[in-house]
Amino acid sequence: MTVREHVRQKVDRLRDELRRDDVGLTARALRVAELSLRAIRVWPAVTIGHERFYELTCAPRQFRGLRDLGVRLARPDDAAAMSALDGTPRARIAERFARGDLGYVAEHDRRILAHSWFHRGPAPFDEDVPLFPRWDVPADAFWSYNAFTLPEARASGVFVKLFQTALRELLTDRGAARVRCRVKVTNVPSVMLHERLGFATLGTLITVAIPGARLLSWQGSGGARHWVERRNGGHVMTFPPGGA
Ligand SMILES: CC(C)(COP(=O)(O)OP(=O)(O)OC[C@H]1O[C@@H](n2cnc3c(N)ncnc32)[C@H](O)[C@@H]1OP(=O)(O)O)[C@@H](O)C(=O)NCCC(=O)NCCS
Repeated sequence: MTVREHVRQKVDRLRDELRRDDVGLTARALRVAELSLRAIRVWPAVTIGHERFYELTCAPRQFRGLRDLGVRLARPDDAAAMSALDGTPRARIAERFARGDLGYVAEHDRRILAHSWFHRGPAPFDEDVPLFPRWDVPADAFWSYNAFTLPEARASGVFVKLFQTALRELLTDRGAARVRCRVKVTNVPSVMLHERLGFATLGTLITVAIPGARLLSWQGSGGARHWVERRNGGHVMTFPPGGA
């Protein structure tokens, strides 16, 4: 691809983001700013985030379809297949198993089509550092992260079955009181999925990070709050921010 074609492709992408009508104006503006920072290669030195935080306290109803799709806890010997699915490095998957995080996989004919991970509190969840602060995870909660379905298996209910099975196990058999997560505001498939399964919005966070500092703006439970913190200061963000 020539440089001109490459630039045209990036500009077309920005235009598509500006024109989309499935998210609000602020979300579109922040997404265009994010893509521009990536295009001019200053990302991740300078980053912009726009995330919605969700919480689920009741186990969702069990899914009845897709009988050929098995859902089970991941084992260390699934690491290669899970890494191949979405490119998560093997070393990172090994760290997740080592700290006791639970991975769930959905498989058909012994092929893994989707996975999702859950981190149990009270240790904060820190895989999003340095883009974001560490997230507080209460002792009675799980942090849900790295949900992924193989592109060709998407929008056919695979992830719903995996998620419902996993969430039911966490909230009933494993005694959790809540499952929390963050979803990019412009990730409409994921937003729809969480809301359909009964996740309630805790709030929305806008972040702007530059080398050494990060500005955060929260709207949600606890009201509005805006603050600046050291970027690599190891801060743990509670929900609502500033709460215990
Ligand atoms: C989000 C993701 C895991 C969903 O997986 P999936 O297997 O396609 O999801 P399912 O088919 O089980 O979900 C069905 C529900 O999700 C929502 N959904 C899925 N794809 C959607 C789309 N393209 N547009 C709108 N809603 C969508 C709908 O609520 C849908 O229910 P419906 O089809 O009955 O209306 C998948 O899109 C993915 O891997 N995305 C890339 C990684 C990612 O964004 N992960 C989430 C990070 S928070």
